[in-house]
Order: sequence, then C-alpha cells, then structure tokens
Amino acid sequence: MNNFQFYSPTEFVFGKDTENECGKYVKKYGGTKVLIHYGGGSAVKSGLIDRVSQSLEAEGIEFVLLGGVQPNPRDTKIYEGIELCRKENVDFILSVGGGSCIDSSKAIALGVPYDGDFWDFYGTGKPVEKALPIGTVLTIAAAGSEGSGATVVTKEEGMLKRDCCSDLLRSKFSILNPALTQTLPAYQTACGATDIMAHVFERYFTNTSDVEITDRLCEAVLLTMINETPKVIANPDDYQARANIMWAGTVAHNDIVGVGRDQDWNSHGIEHELSGLYDCAHGAGLAVIMPSWMEFVYKHNPMRFAQMATRVFGCQMDFENPEKTAVQGIACFRKFLKSIGMPINFEELGAKEEDIPVLVEKFGLGDGKTGGFVALSSEDVASIYKIAAHAKC
Ligand code: NZQ
Ligand code: ZN
Repeated sequence: MNNFQFYSPTEFVFGKDTENECGKYVKKYGGTKVLIHYGGGSAVKSGLIDRVSQSLEAEGIEFVLLGGVQPNPRDTKIYEGIELCRKENVDFILSVGGGSCIDSSKAIALGVPYDGDFWDFYGTGKPVEKALPIGTVLTIAAAGSEGSGATVVTKEEGMLKRDCCSDLLRSKFSILNPALTQTLPAYQTACGATDIMAHVFERYFTNTSDVEITDRLCEAVLLTMINETPKVIANPDDYQARANIMWAGTVAHNDIVGVGRDQDWNSHGIEHELSGLYDCAHGAGLAVIMPSWMEFVYKHNPMRFAQMATRVFGCQMDFENPEKTAVQGIACFRKFLKSIGMPINFEELGAKEEDIPVLVEKFGLGDGKTGGFVALSSEDVASIYKIAAHAKC
C-alpha cells in the first residue's frame, strides 16, 4: 500500500426531509447571503427549491436564485453566476441538483474571488488559492461531486470539457435525501449507477500491490450497485435501495475506496471527450467506454480482472486460463450495463466512428502518453474508441 493522506471534511447529512435543515447548515458554515444554484427545472417542479428557500428564510438568511444549469455545465452560465455573486455580495453558494449543478457552483465559487478568467484553472493544474464556501443538496446519485474536490465544466466554444481539483472546493456540507432521487427517470438513474461503478473501477485497476482493504471496499460498492440498481429501475420509489445507492455514490468518489493505491482515470478522460462533443450523459458515455478500455488493457494484469470477475460478477475462476475468466468478467459488466438500459456502443450513444480522429485530437496527448494502470498513447486511445464503436453484448 502507498503512503496517503485522506481529507474528506464535508459534513454529510443523510436521510428523509434533511433538505429542510439546509438553512441551519448554511448558518453553521458562515453563509449570510446565498446563491441558490440549480438546474433545468426538476428541482423547481418537485417543490425542492421552495423548501430550500423556506429553510433559508427561517434562519433569516438572504438569497438570490440562479437556475438553468445544463448537464455538462457550460462556462456561459458560470460567468453569469460569477457576475451575479459579485453584484449581490454573495458569500455562500448552495447547489441544489446533481453533479452538473455542483460543478457549476464550484466554478462560480473559485471564480468570484479570482481576478481573471475562471477557465484558467481548468485542465491546467493551476492551484486554486481562494474560493467561496459551498453546500450541496443532492438530487441524483452519480458524479460524487458532493464529496469530491473536483469540478468538470464545458467551454461552449469548441465544446471543451475540462476539470479542476482542489480541497478548497469540497462542500462544507452535503444534504443527501434519497427520496429526492425518486423523481429521476430510469435512464438518468442508470447513468448515475454507471458513473458510480466507473469511479470504483478507475481505482480498482491499479498497479499497487497489497491493497486488500481498498480492494474489498471497492468490491462492496460494486456488489451494492449490482444488487440495488435493478431494484430502483423496476421500482423508482424503493427508498431503501435509493438510500444504498446514494451513499455508494458518495463513498465511490470521496476517495475512501481509493487511498493508498495508484489510480487510472483514463476511461473518464476518454469519456469526457464524448460528452463534450455530443453532449451525452457522462454515465452513458462511460457505459460505452469503460468495458472497451477494460478489453484493451486486461492483458496487462489478467489476474486482477479475473479477481473482479470472480468476486464481483460471480464467475468461476479458470486456473488454467485466467485470461478467459477476465474476459468473462468484462462481458458480465457490459451485460449488466445493457440490462439497466445503458448504451454499449457508439451507435446506441449517438456517436460516430468517423469522429474518432477528432476525439483523439481533443484528448490532446499528441506524441505523449497518459499514466495510469496502462500508459496510453494517442494510437491506444483511438483503438479504445474503435472497440467502443463496435461493442456488442
Ligand atoms: O437539470 P435538471 O432539471 O435538474 O435535470 C437533471 C439533468 O437533466 C436531472 N435530474 C437531476 N436530479 C433529478 C433530475 N431529474 C429528476 N429528478 C431528480 N431528482 O438529471 C439530469 C442529469 O443531471 P446532472 O447533474 O448532469 O447529472 P450527474 O450528477 O450525473 O452529473 C454529471 C456531470 O458531473 C461530471 C460529469 O462529467 C458531468 O458533467 N462529473 C463530475 C465529477 C466531480 N465533480 O467529481 C466526477 C464525475 O466523474 C463526473 O465527471
Ligand atoms: Zn464520473
């Protein structure tokens, strides 16, 4: 196991009706003038924005509202938010929505005190030195942004999707009421489930040895997702299954399952070019990319894939031929994704094979290589897109 530091300072408030306490938590973390930032309308329709507003009013906290965050959140909305916060002297951002909304909130939070373009921090590694505090009321179990220090946003010009990470961007508190996710369409639920599983797999496939504890934690989250996701697809109002998925989504990405081990993240990078170019859901893009990446890299360590196959998907270990077991495990993963309604190839996602050179160019490796479980060249990335283009169950 590698040395590590684990920092997850967010206060998680989990359970039914907890959104009604958000005013109390904003006060606890020093907010006096709040921007309530939300998405395309689901939180208005469900009455959540009203409940959140009432909770702030009950604590005597002033607020302004800014909705309209799109999935794959855009820079244009972020500039609007930064301007509004400066004009209204906002000192706390309350994100009410999913990963897109939280990531847009984080971008506004770092942009307000910065004397320059917030985009300077994206895809550059430039360290964030100051940010407004943020809090979260989560409405979809997926991105894990409620417990992560990451934000991923899209620049409309050129549809470039890039990320930025900083501990300063971690939510002060995150309110997780599984009942809020009961209004999700099955497709969005499945996209979220795929993203959660992908966050675990990006950590599971590692070159670090002797990581039994995090291997087992990863497997627990994956098994939970395999058990619980079909339940909520069949019955969206299954609160207990929603609850298990919601907490799985947070622990999958606040790094408790990934500490002390090298991680990969190439599938995420390769997917971000798809959701950047086609504006598809991140989870759907991952359903197409992640098993294809697995097929491309499994020979690097067939035993690790065979371990996934046996422990997570219940395949029989073939000791004579572990590669066969590894391949079976990958097939099981793809079959599971298909069974919950995810696309598994370019056509089903709405992507085009002839765009592969554009996607590779945008990925931006040039003649270099990425790190990770297996270092990839531009040619390798093109091969993974090619596998994804033709994938079948
Ligand atoms: O905008 P509204 O009307 O709310 O509709 C949203 C949106 O259309 C809808 N939705 C959310 N909660 C709902 C609901 N509909 C009905 N009932 C509810 N309770 O779901 C749609 C998707 O929302 P979005 O916020 O985009 O989903 P998600 O949480 O999957 O976020 C995806 C974004 O997060 C980024 C992705 O790249 C993508 O841009 N990621 C962020 C990460 C991070 N910050 O740590 C890590 C991830 O790997 C990921 O890259
Ligand atoms: Zn993700």
